[in-house]
Amino acid sequence: MIAKAARAVLILALAIAAPGVALAQAPAPDAVKRGEYIFNAAGCLSCHTDVKNNGQPLAGGREMKTPFGSFFGPNITPHPTYGIGRWTEAQFRRALREGIRPDGAHYFPSFPYTSFSGMSDGDISDLWAYMRTVPQEARPNTPHSIGFPFNIRLGMIGWKWLFFTPGEFKPDPAQSAEVNRGAYLTNHLSHCGECHTPRNSLGARDRSRHLGGGAIHEGPAPNITPHPTGLGKWSPADLLDLLKNGGKPDGDFVGGEMAEVVKETTGKLTDADLQAMLAYLRTVPPLESQRRK
Ligand code: HEC
Ligand code: HEC
Repeated sequence: MIAKAARAVLILALAIAAPGVALAQAPAPDAVKRGEYIFNAAGCLSCHTDVKNNGQPLAGGREMKTPFGSFFGPNITPHPTYGIGRWTEAQFRRALREGIRPDGAHYFPSFPYTSFSGMSDGDISDLWAYMRTVPQEARPNTPHSIGFPFNIRLGMIGWKWLFFTPGEFKPDPAQSAEVNRGAYLTNHLSHCGECHTPRNSLGARDRSRHLGGGAIHEGPAPNITPHPTGLGKWSPADLLDLLKNGGKPDGDFVGGEMAEVVKETTGKLTDADLQAMLAYLRTVPPLESQRRK
């Protein structure tokens, strides 16, 4: 009897506390709105949504084939058990900036934290505000299927030591505000180099071939440096068109993963941000394509 009463009190207490907690932590609407823009600019949806099998947004299960095996994007909805509903903003920040899981384990760079690391504190806060507003989904994560020794998370300590310097993006004072904004978008938020920069045998981007064309996912991504074998011959208007709606000068449309980038990311950016990206792309060192097109 006493136990029953105690339980009733407990349930009542929880019922009162729960909405109170939710109210106290409700993210500010303007932060959510800014966060949605960051979310699109960063293309968070694609790798975390199993579009092929009609998966719920951000509930995970999307397969990413790489030379090391298949990675599956985890559930990042605010579900308390299957998603990241119990995370704090500080844990979220650490995941993006340092590639570290709340329990201290290291993420694989198939999660492009090597690019996201440069995101500003303000953008990460806004993104976090938005992430808390997406619908929860109770989908358990699909384990990665990657071979030894790449499946060892501890191995990531050495990898990070070799290839990763975490830290917020620092503008180059020698460049205009527009070019710096473009660099921030291209190299960090929109992580264009994750596909357009080639990788070494350990899966790290080859800095000497920045944006020179690469392949790790399903298809090869072309050279987007200003060299004539890259984007050198494209007019600014044609490039803007491609980023906005995927249309190419020959009337064709970009395919594969770039079609997804246009749909989820560049097609949702403001003209000013797209122009900034293009301004930055004109300043990167031109590299001759290594692959025959
Ligand atoms: C290119 C694909 C890709 C993109 C783009 C991507 N992620 Fe991920 N993400 C992954 C993969 C794969 C993992 C799992 C990494 C691992 O297990 O080491 C992951 C892990 C995570 C985790 C950790 C989840 C957990 O349960 O530990 C969070 C949080 C996360 N991503 C958030 C984001 C956000 C926010 C964005 C956009 C800013 C984003 N991701 C963009 C592929 C991606
Ligand atoms: C997930 C991988 C991926 C990401 C991220 C990505 N791209 Fe692409 N991109 C591709 C692939 C693959 C193609 C080739 C598509 C085709 O041949 O139809 C491509 C094509 C292009 C082209 C056309 C070039 C040509 O010669 O036809 C441009 C321009 C481009 N990307 C710019 C960008 C920019 C700018 C970003 C960052 C906002 C970006 N891409 C992010 C994979 C990616």
